Amino acid sequence: MTQPHDLHGAARAPHDETRQRILMCAPDDFDVRYVINPWMEHQIGRTTPSLAREQWRNLRALVAQSAEVEQVTPAAGLPDMVFTANAGFVLGAIAVVSRFRAEQRRPEEPLFRAFFEAQGYDVAPWPEPIPFEGAGDALIDRGADVVWCGYGMRSAAEAPAALERIIGRRVIGLRLVDPRFYHLDTCFCPLARGWLMYYPPAFDDASRAAIEKIVPREKRMEIDEADAMRFACNAIDLDASVAMNDASPQLQKRLRDAGFAPALAPLSEFMKAGGSAKCLTLKLSER
Ligand code: ARG
Repeated sequence: MTQPHDLHGAARAPHDETRQRILMCAPDDFDVRYVINPWMEHQIGRTTPSLAREQWRNLRALVAQSAEVEQVTPAAGLPDMVFTANAGFVLGAIAVVSRFRAEQRRPEEPLFRAFFEAQGYDVAPWPEPIPFEGAGDALIDRGADVVWCGYGMRSAAEAPAALERIIGRRVIGLRLVDPRFYHLDTCFCPLARGWLMYYPPAFDDASRAAIEKIVPREKRMEIDEADAMRFACNAIDLDASVAMNDASPQLQKRLRDAGFAPALAPLSEFMKAGGSAKCLTLKLSER
């Protein structure tokens, strides 16, 4: 298989190969223009572009402390393209491009595909009729050798099995049952050393049982509704910090006690579209 490579590498400073690479997309045309999740209700036209830009730059600076930030060019008319977690799912040299459930986001697919191809990934064919929203719904565990795949809101029930066939790694489907937590990354966050921060009521009983079977009790950090509504689970596990929109002092302490350094980056404008820190990023270097 070919290794991902940077086509512009020659013109740039040499990459530090030990640093992660993370994809972001500037919020040039970001706004709420349609409603495809409950957070977007009553928010059409209500974002403040200058504040969104400032919040996004702040997040990018935080990410850049731990990773090389790659950027994909935003396209006019695609206000949700900033949420690069939904570009696709990356593992090693394989990229699976998302197949969006909402018509409004489907035009992002060829743009993300072109990005992955230009970066040298093997773009795996995905069964066209099955919605799958990439790393918004598919998250790699950092302890067990499994990938978790949320379904039932955006990605279809068939998505976990289809993903498993492509990547050849065990994929465990988790059924999402609360429309506020419509992507897995809004309520479930695998952290380094096998830790898991999650909001249990977002899942059905069988899915909660599946989580408990894989993740040992002492590594499960259950969060409450107030922290879930702050999108605390929508966190980016970076080398230097765990970046998130907000978290209660109690949750921040639990994270510190577990050896993590919470870093708060307010993302109010993106919350109006139903996304925050993790949604705005995609890890490109995954082994
Ligand atoms: N407005 C976007 C949507 O509903 C937000 C996507 C958030 N992305 C995520 N990975 N949770 O599709």
